[in-house]
Amino acid sequence: MANQRPCAPLLEVRDVRVAYGKAEVVHGISMDVRAGEFVVMLGRNGAGKSSLLHAISGLVPMRTGTVRFEGRDLGGARPRDIVKAGIIQVLEGHRVFHTLSVEDNLLIGTYAANSRGDRGKLGRIYELFPELAERRHQMASRLSGGQQQILAVGQGLIGDPKLLILDEPSGGLAPMVVDRILDVASDLCRSGMAILLVEQLVEKALRHAHYGYLVETGRVAAEAFVDELREGDLLQRVYLGGH
Ligand SMILES: Nc1ncnc2c1ncn2[C@@H]1O[C@H](COP(=O)(O)OP(=O)(O)OP(=O)(O)O)[C@@H](O)[C@H]1O
Ligand SMILES: [Mg+2]
Repeated sequence: MANQRPCAPLLEVRDVRVAYGKAEVVHGISMDVRAGEFVVMLGRNGAGKSSLLHAISGLVPMRTGTVRFEGRDLGGARPRDIVKAGIIQVLEGHRVFHTLSVEDNLLIGTYAANSRGDRGKLGRIYELFPELAERRHQMASRLSGGQQQILAVGQGLIGDPKLLILDEPSGGLAPMVVDRILDVASDLCRSGMAILLVEQLVEKALRHAHYGYLVETGRVAAEAFVDELREGDLLQRVYLGGH
């Protein structure tokens, strides 16, 4: 992508603050994901990245600020309605339902659109991730951590998001798993799905993303195209805490 962001805004986050009790951890973040973009959010542990993502997905309330998606204000919307609007977040830590089969876990991802489950959507996910097809009748608890993460991504994708949010898909897993997930995300992005990724494996993330935000203690410290982010000393500052 040339160094110009697509004009069409998809997700518009404006001055969002998030607090747990009295402790504010997101201090007014504004950021965009535009149509067809792959955006990465980088920052150290505890910077507030997941808290912002949870606010976007309606999983934690915002103290102030607005989130708009395709021009529609999502303030106060329930998580289920946010999913229906087209934003699906794959949570940190490969969370799947351990006592359900792989296939039932995937079907859960179709419930927002169809409360009886939509088996017709399984085929596409099995094409993307043949390892899930091979294990479709296995309990999720019997999968490796990497396979569980792939299942969590499949559970998100089967809901046909317009914006897929991935919160640290690497989560302590083998680098190969992360490459698989990010390659699939890049392919989906090329076919029109927008991606918002939070990732600690900075190099891998920058290889796939177009545009990035650096978050430092609840604020955006910098935003730029990924090649500019790579060149500057900001990344080092954010990760090593130097100035
Ligand atoms: N449910 C919660 N209740 C209270 N404090 C929380 C809660 N969740 C997160 N925090 C705190 O909010 C701050 C930001 O956490 P958050 O998980 O958003 O950071 P993060 O950037 O996603 O970090 P990581 O890279 O470790 O995932 C941290 O100080 C964390 O301890
Ligand atoms: Mg996090």
